[in-house]
Amino acid sequence: MSPTDTVARPQVDPGTHADPGPEWAAEVRELARRRNAVLLAHNYQLPAIQDVADHVGDSLGLSRIAAASDAETIVFCGVHFMAETAKILAPDKTVLIPDAAAGCSLADSITADQLRAWKAEHPGAVVVSYVNTTAEVKAETDVCCTSSNAVEVVESIPADREVLFLPDQFLGAHVRRVTGRDNVHVWAGECHVHAGINGATLTARAAEDPDAELFVHPECGCATSALYLAGTGAVPADRVKILSTGGMLDAARTSTAGTVLVATEVGMLHQLRRAAPEIDFRAVNERASCPYMKMITPAKLLRALREGRDEVHVAPDLAARARTAVRRMIEIGQPGGAE
Ligand code: 13P
Ligand code: SF4
Repeated sequence: MSPTDTVARPQVDPGTHADPGPEWAAEVRELARRRNAVLLAHNYQLPAIQDVADHVGDSLGLSRIAAASDAETIVFCGVHFMAETAKILAPDKTVLIPDAAAGCSLADSITADQLRAWKAEHPGAVVVSYVNTTAEVKAETDVCCTSSNAVEVVESIPADREVLFLPDQFLGAHVRRVTGRDNVHVWAGECHVHAGINGATLTARAAEDPDAELFVHPECGCATSALYLAGTGAVPADRVKILSTGGMLDAARTSTAGTVLVATEVGMLHQLRRAAPEIDFRAVNERASCPYMKMITPAKLLRALREGRDEVHVAPDLAARARTAVRRMIEIGQPGGAE
């Protein structure tokens, strides 16, 4: 059983996801103007939410925008750890999330107590936490990373230092493979959405479409299979790209492929199709929809702006301890990933 199998997960309610129309968008924009609010949306949000936002991007790009913004209020359309990260970086701003219950099965896969126990087993190790973690876990962390800069973050650590990488086992395996380091210990957590995009599905889809490029998020269970396929020559190596959501957009803008198979959460297809309308983007698993991301509905975004809820709070002492690790994350790696 995976560490996240016991977690109760919300169901996506299709009734709340109908196109809300131009009047809704006009009211959202007007309320945001009155509050001096910037609207940030992750690439996995519903298309209507992405289209009304000021910035759409990956978790690293949106963290950078939150840190640099001069708006009074940040409305974070994403999951709770992302809004919490914005509050850690911008403690004097009001940070709102349209539904505070929008969690993350990956962030739930390690607690601060579990991390303290793991650190005690490896004294002197450097703790690298993926940004998909709670503020309590970040406060126990030396440096945070996202899928865009995980490799650069680990490469910035002296080669003779042990590293504790958490919580995602697939991203951890990717980092071990790319850096060639065997002193990176990886926590066995996973995202249930990405773990559901498995190697067998990817292999079958790649075989059906031998000319297609493959864009694979490193959190996917199929990331290893994608590299294996490239290694055996079943798929030419230059057609397999392991990318963060922001990296997928950059790659789409320069790709010459007719078809791209996309192995990540299906919300990503909206930005990819906008970035490169001439390419046929197809989901490797059409059911890979994050129920937490889809809790942010048009109605809840409007409620957030009308009523100022749900406000995100992080205790100042905890935020101060987490801030050093988060700041290191936004300093390492190439800017980008959000527009
Ligand atoms: P990115 O860092 O690529 O935006 O991914 C965030 C996430 O939650 C992946 O599931
Ligand atoms: Fe968390 Fe997975 Fe949803 Fe990303 S897709 S927010 S990692 S549950």
